[in-house]
Amino acid sequence: MRDWFRNRRGGRLIFIAGFIPLLFTIFLSTASEQEVAIADEETRHCLSCHGSYKYQLTDTVTGDVATLKMHSDLFIDPLAYSNATHGTFKCTDCHSADYTIHPHPISTKFELQYACMDCHGGDEMYASFHFETIEEEYLKSIHATELGDEFTCWSCHNPHTYKLSDKQPGQLVNRVAMNNAACLNCHGNIDNYAVLIEKELPDLIKSHEWLPNQSLHFRKVRCIDCHAANNDSILVAHFVLPADQSVRNCVECHSTNSILMASLYKHQAVEKRNSLGFYNGVIMNEAYVIGANRNYYLNIASIVIFIMVLIGIAIHATLRYIHRHKRHGN
Ligand code: HEC
Ligand code: HEC
Ligand code: HEC
Ligand code: HEC
Ligand code: HEC
Ligand code: HEC
Ligand code: HEC
Repeated sequence: MRDWFRNRRGGRLIFIAGFIPLLFTIFLSTASEQEVAIADEETRHCLSCHGSYKYQLTDTVTGDVATLKMHSDLFIDPLAYSNATHGTFKCTDCHSADYTIHPHPISTKFELQYACMDCHGGDEMYASFHFETIEEEYLKSIHATELGDEFTCWSCHNPHTYKLSDKQPGQLVNRVAMNNAACLNCHGNIDNYAVLIEKELPDLIKSHEWLPNQSLHFRKVRCIDCHAANNDSILVAHFVLPADQSVRNCVECHSTNSILMASLYKHQAVEKRNSLGFYNGVIMNEAYVIGANRNYYLNIASIVIFIMVLIGIAIHATLRYIHRHKRHGN
């Protein structure tokens, strides 16, 4: 009895001892989340200018202070930065240490930039992302072949705000919006487009006039679902094709074997298949794809018809049986 009691008390002590640090971590994490979570002094210094719409310069001889506007292209939102996938980095982990000098010396204009592959290539930790396959696919894309070195992975992956997307099913519309924003940042913004090519920026609304209910489609499907070739081993297609090879045929999406099952809904498709052994449910829940719903109701209808036929046969057989017995009885 005493042993039992001691064990119980021991258990409770362990329980309490475990609970206290847990409480602390909860308080600590909420506390540190409230201040923008940039701990590094140097980074905060960079952001005192780049994270603000204005910055100040002091004339070292006269002591005059001028307040100047930070060019919007050089502005970095501190909150978006701290939430980004690479938001724990110091600015100078990627940028030249010469940027700590201000005004920045001319040498900084010639700094070499890291590529994703410099850090992620051949790294086992990131094997699940298949960086090598993504790079191979990217190198075949219209951007890499037509625009050369001026176009890089960073052209779509903003170094300061890129965040690995949330793949929860409920986040699908968000994911579509974030994904398309990467394309529209250039295809909808002449400033960014014109740096790369001397060509008029095509009006996307006109180029997609053939698509009914355009705004709904642009909210529910990604540009890459029509414009990039699928590759089964990566989650996000990176082989962007020339426009004339893009998906135009409605049935490619609006059917039971929709291409979206291998692209937009791929992650959910994998999850559903893992837990339930099949993935048809994804289409029913997330978006309707015309063929799929029709099939669902057709299936129910055919089961109902089948049961009615069985009942019909049963009634018919019983009636005949009774009828024959009556005749024999006579
Ligand atoms: C006193 C304000 C100030 C501080 C502090 C500052 N910058 Fe700048 N930065 C500027 C201004 C103004 C420009 C634009 C003029 C120029 O290129 O020098 C600029 C330009 C840049 C550019 C080049 C943009 C381009 O494409 O031309 C980079 C990169 C940069 N800063 C990074 C940093 C980093 C990293 C730090 C911290 C180590 C930092 N800056 C600190 C004001 C500042
Ligand atoms: C993960 C690497 C990385 C980190 C961390 C990083 N940068 Fe950058 N930054 C880049 C790259 C790459 C470019 C060039 C982007 C391009 O070519 O499109 C760039 C461009 C810039 C520019 C030019 C404007 C622009 O957006 O193209 C400024 C200003 C800048 N960085 C400032 C900063 C500051 C300030 C910090 C820290 C708060 C920082 N960077 C942290 C990689 C990084
Ligand atoms: C200077 C080195 C460096 C460069 C350049 C770099 N990364 Fe990273 N990346 C890292 C490190 C380190 C982490 C882990 C960060 C962490 O866990 O806080 C990371 C994390 C990631 C993750 C998240 C992995 C996960 O499991 O959450 C993705 C995705 C990613 N990087 C993609 C990219 C892409 C795309 C590029 C190029 C556009 C790129 N990275 C460039 C070093 C780098
Ligand atoms: C034409 C634009 C574009 C280019 C260029 C590009 N990416 Fe991406 N990448 C995207 C988009 C869009 C996503 C999906 C983002 C989302 O769904 O939130 C993505 C996602 C990723 C992911 C995450 C995949 C996952 O499992 O969620 C990695 C890793 C990645 N890209 C690496 C690269 C590398 C490496 C390069 C250069 C070799 C590159 N990307 C070039 C647009 C691009
Ligand atoms: C940084 C700018 C930039 C970004 C970001 C960008 N593109 Fe492009 N894209 C261009 C330029 C410039 C061209 C023109 C190439 C040409 O005409 O030779 C182009 C060409 C194309 C074409 C071929 C057009 C044609 O006439 O054949 C398609 C399709 C395309 N992009 C789709 C996308 C998609 C989808 C995304 C996002 C995943 C994206 N782009 C992101 C700049 C960009
Ligand atoms: C439903 C499929 C579909 C979607 C979604 C879609 N496109 Fe297209 N897009 C096409 C087709 C097909 C063409 C070729 C039209 C033609 O040649 O008449 C095209 C043409 C283009 C062109 C070439 C325009 C021109 O006039 O030269 C660009 C650039 C482009 N799309 C970018 C995008 C971007 C960026 C998005 C996302 C915001 C997007 N597309 C969404 C199917 C699509
Ligand atoms: C890349 C895949 C894709 C292609 C190609 C495509 N659609 Fe869609 N379509 C969708 C998705 C996803 C929805 C949104 C379903 C939802 O969630 O409501 C949709 C919705 C619709 C709707 C419903 C609009 C409403 O008001 O509810 C119509 C009609 C439609 N598409 C017709 C077409 C036609 C016609 C074509 C060919 C010219 C076409 N679609 C091509 C994916 C596609």
